[in-house]
Amino acid sequence: MYQITFQFENGGKPVIVDATPNTTILDAAKAANVAIDAPCNGNGSCGKCRVKILEGTVESTPTHHISEEDYAAGWRLSCASKPASDVVVQVPDIASAYRSRMKTADLSSGEEIRIFEELLAGVDFHGRKVRLIGLTVGNTPEACADCVQLRFDFGEE
Ligand code: FES
Repeated sequence: MYQITFQFENGGKPVIVDATPNTTILDAAKAANVAIDAPCNGNGSCGKCRVKILEGTVESTPTHHISEEDYAAGWRLSCASKPASDVVVQVPDIASAYRSRMKTADLSSGEEIRIFEELLAGVDFHGRKVRLIGLTVGNTPEACADCVQLRFDFGEE
């Protein structure tokens, strides 16, 4: 078992999880409700799930999505990387990725973007803070090509 510490570019509170050596960084993130942009759902084709390894080592499959320069700087595809020690992982700001994904999904009117931004920050729903934590546009085993899947964190009661 290794410890994965997710740190956030936007300064959010780090999330620490335990993961087996066979768990990808992306799967560990999903299990911990850490949002990583992963439109292809981990099949290695989109190249969007980049994270930066700040400390520790990972087993990682080389990919054309990561340049030699970025690889040397610690960038890896989270879906193609598994911990080989305790690791500290920097997660890029997901909000900008979501905004571009919303454009792809043609949900880019001012009003829709405003609602989207509010859901990212969290809204009150019957006393619970509900936050949007995941968004996938089609191209997954579960979703049709034009579907948008949203995942929410319903917070503590
Ligand atoms: S989720 Fe698409 S390449 Fe990793």
